[in-house]
Formats: sequence, structure tokens, C-alpha cells
Amino acid sequence: MFQATPLPTSDKATFYRDLDKQLSGLLAGERDFIANAANLSALIFNFVPDLNWAGFYLMHGNDLLLGPFQGKPACVRIPVFPQPRGVCGAAAFQRKTQLVPNVHEFPGHIACDSASNSEIVVPLLANGRVIGVLDIDSPTLSRFDAIDQQGIEQLVHTFLAMTDVPAMPVPAAA
Ligand code: SME
Repeated sequence: MFQATPLPTSDKATFYRDLDKQLSGLLAGERDFIANAANLSALIFNFVPDLNWAGFYLMHGNDLLLGPFQGKPACVRIPVFPQPRGVCGAAAFQRKTQLVPNVHEFPGHIACDSASNSEIVVPLLANGRVIGVLDIDSPTLSRFDAIDQQGIEQLVHTFLAMTDVPAMPVPAAA
């Protein structure tokens, strides 16, 4: 059984370093993509404060398709190519983390949960291709800053290093 050690919240950089160590422990001994993605979304949702949704969308053809997540039921399919939609579509299309302080000001934002006010979406890049995104939502405006971005990108890096990436049906452009 996974036992989380209490994480300090006073220093955010230390918090993310400790969370990353806990992730390594959690994923050790298992390389299955869905199992590890499910556990990463649960780790984030339960230990990163002030969230209402955390989970994955995975590339399937030209779209992102809902993957393992924690939170309320969400939109299933988000177009990426040829025209990206929402914050997730932008992150996958640009292959770049999107840090959105106020989702209501982001053109084309897809409101899956009306509680969401800010959002961070990190692309999953493997073998030079985008294979999906990790999407994290908060009810608090400007919830995520550069330290959150760095910490969450490191979690994604650890997850991808410790997980076998399945051959996903991706378009030539991805
Ligand atoms: N808000 C996202 C859609 C996914 S949900 O937040 C879970 C977007 O604009 O891409």
C-alpha cells in the first residue's frame, strides 16, 4: 500500500521535490502507461492543494481523448490538428506548457467543470512526438506560477522516464 509522507507546503520548490521523490517510489516496479498515468493523476489531485481536476488527455489521431483522471466527469474529445481547441489543444499543438491565470480570458477555453478558474497544461513529448497532455485545474484564479510549472514539468519528466509509452495512433504532423 502506498503511504504518502506529509509534504511541507511552506516552500513550494521543496514540496515539488518531495512529491517527485514520492512519485518515483509510487511508480517503481511498474511501467504500464495507464496504471502509472492513473497513479500520477491521483497523486497530484490528492496532494497538490486547491485543485478541482487533474488528469490526462492522450493523442488519438488528430484529437486528444480523455485518459486517466481525478475529478468530475470531463469532455471526452478535444481537437488538436488542424485547428487546436482549448488550453489542452494549444499545449499539444504548440508542444509547450500553457499557464493560464484566468481560463475565462483564454480564447476557446473548454469549460468542462464550471468550478475551474485557472489551469496548467503540460504536453507529454516522447520520441519527438506529442502523445498527450497533463491537465490540472484550480477553482482559484492565478493558482499556478513558474514554480508550479517547473515542479509539474519535472513530475511529467519522471513519469515518462519510468513508463513505457505505447504506440499511439498519432497523425504525421504530431
Ligand atoms: N479546460 C480544458 C478542457 C479539459 S478540462 O478542463 C478537464 C481546455 O480548455 O482544454
